[in-house]
Amino acid sequence: MQQTRCRPNILVSGTPGCGKSTTCELLQRHLPDYQYFNISDFAREHNCYDGYDEARKSHIVDEDRLLDELEPLLRRGGAIVDWHVNDIFPERLIDLVVVLRCDNAILHDRLQKRGYHSSKIEENIDAEIMGVVLQDALDSYVREIVVELQSDDTEQMQQNVDRIAAWEANWVSEHPDGVSNALQQHAGSDASSSEADSDGVSDAGDSDGDGDGDSTQDN
Ligand SMILES: Nc1ncnc2c1ncn2[C@@H]1O[C@H](COP(=O)(O)OP(=O)(O)OP(=O)(O)O)[C@@H](O)[C@H]1O
Ligand SMILES: [Mg+2]
Repeated sequence: MQQTRCRPNILVSGTPGCGKSTTCELLQRHLPDYQYFNISDFAREHNCYDGYDEARKSHIVDEDRLLDELEPLLRRGGAIVDWHVNDIFPERLIDLVVVLRCDNAILHDRLQKRGYHSSKIEENIDAEIMGVVLQDALDSYVREIVVELQSDDTEQMQQNVDRIAAWEANWVSEHPDGVSNALQQHAGSDASSSEADSDGVSDAGDSDGDGDGDSTQDN
């Protein structure tokens, strides 16, 4: 079992359509040694399903099974994790939580282009308006590692990727011996706060969001 990781694990979250996968793919070009985990694909490939939600037309993800499969990979560090659910990953294994945000009208267009049913579009827009994903992140991780980034257009996406890549370089230089994968040491380390700030990745401020995420997914 790997006890330390020398590279950070970066979780990219946000309401469906906010641009997680597009951002992660671009980020991986900056960080080619990182392993990209699109959790929707990962859950399917590892058969981490626990039934099917007919109303949502989505598979229900078996979170315990998913974590059993994913944890050894996260212990290595250098993971880019892409999922709209952010509150199931062990805090001790996550170094930065990026929550992408999107303007409602733009998000509406993106989801419409996907051919989503109007009720599904509405559900996602409501979640984005209420800041559900951001609130989940703030409820689940120390505030200092949660960053909220707007991603309405390609310019913002590029800026976001540059910021995350700069944060990564700083994290690595600040942790020459890596960090522990064990609970107590990582939870006590508050170094990520100053790193995030110094790299211009401002941490998430107060949010009025409420509600709960769910572990369903398309297909
Ligand atoms: N910042 C951006 N500027 C312009 N277009 C974007 C931006 N972010 C995403 N898009 C476009 O919006 C669509 C949805 O993006 P993407 O698939 O990355 O979202 P997602 O958050 O991964 O969604 P899901 O949770 O459903 O997987 C894509 O067509 C993508 O090209
Ligand atoms: Mg995606």
